Amino acid sequence: MVSAEAGRPVLKLVRRRTYFAFPPAAVFATMGAGNLGPMGDSNLMPVKKLSVIVTRRLPEPVETRLKELFDVELNESDTPFTHNQLVDALQRADVLVPTLNDTIDARALAQAGERLRLIANYGAGFDHIDVQTARQRGILVSNTPGVLADDTADMTMALILTVMRRFKEGSNLLQSGDWQGWSPSALLGSRIGGKRLGILGMGRIGTALARRARPFGLQIHYHNRKRVHPAIEEELEATYWESFDQMLSRVDILSINCPHTPSTFHLLNARRLKLMKPTAFVVNTSRGEVIDENAFTRMLRAGELAGAGLDVFEKGPDINPRLRGLDNAVLLPHMGSATEEGRLEMGEKVIINIKTFADGHRPPDQVVPSML
Ligand code: DGY
Repeated sequence: MVSAEAGRPVLKLVRRRTYFAFPPAAVFATMGAGNLGPMGDSNLMPVKKLSVIVTRRLPEPVETRLKELFDVELNESDTPFTHNQLVDALQRADVLVPTLNDTIDARALAQAGERLRLIANYGAGFDHIDVQTARQRGILVSNTPGVLADDTADMTMALILTVMRRFKEGSNLLQSGDWQGWSPSALLGSRIGGKRLGILGMGRIGTALARRARPFGLQIHYHNRKRVHPAIEEELEATYWESFDQMLSRVDILSINCPHTPSTFHLLNARRLKLMKPTAFVVNTSRGEVIDENAFTRMLRAGELAGAGLDVFEKGPDINPRLRGLDNAVLLPHMGSATEEGRLEMGEKVIINIKTFADGHRPPDQVVPSML
């Protein structure tokens, strides 16, 4: 019965293993769902809850719901997994719930157990997972897109305002106790209205940013693999640049909103950074690897760029030390999606992806290599 559906990748996976939380969709489809309750036909399908390992602490309601649904192993201490702990989890779990701190590369996947069938990432970005290798090994990958777009766009807008209007310097001055009162010439920043905002990557977050930027009087320019729908371009009065280089030389602010993939690694390299106006600002709330951080830091220090608002860094928390202490760099510790609501919604997406998979269907947020 199942083999009739063997061409469908999810069902192929199901066939490979002997147990499943609930009968896969193929069984329902062939026998009629009415013949099988959630416990299935015990001759046909031994039932066992999926074993799910979560690598970091998640919001309490998310952990509670995961425990209700699955056989869950939580990381009570919240200490990031070492490579060995990660490999151990890959060997023991049916489903792994990692975060962006867990590097699941080909080396780690080569050691994964036969039972691992789904990597349900808690996060939208999946550059820490070798999706191609996972696919070759019959392991599905899902993520949590959409629910963090607004929060990340809010923070991007805040970074633009903070760095251009020098709010960090103002706050530091006040905190230091050295402020002498209002002055006609102190801490003059750049006016936001009328400036050109270039958005690299016009996906959900890029579009949400453009929608926020418009009422501030920013003109929207963008570069994307594909031109967005004309109705969106019209709504945002956005100018599409097929050439990233050409856009770079014309914008006053560049916001990085594309994912990190092999083709976007160091997209903003030394050559391209030099195309930008020395009065331009760069804001990055996507992934640090898109910018050559050393070249960028050198240019910021040399005054060849006006300023930066960075939430992400090329080597995670090991940021270039020369970025610290720069007045014109506003640095945040990867906070784009850090709202109570956002993190709950990310958890809900993880649960839906696992539950849908357990029910024998494709996870709604399945990541496929063509998304790279
Ligand atoms: C993601 O989900 O990839 C974000 O970077 C986390 O905020």
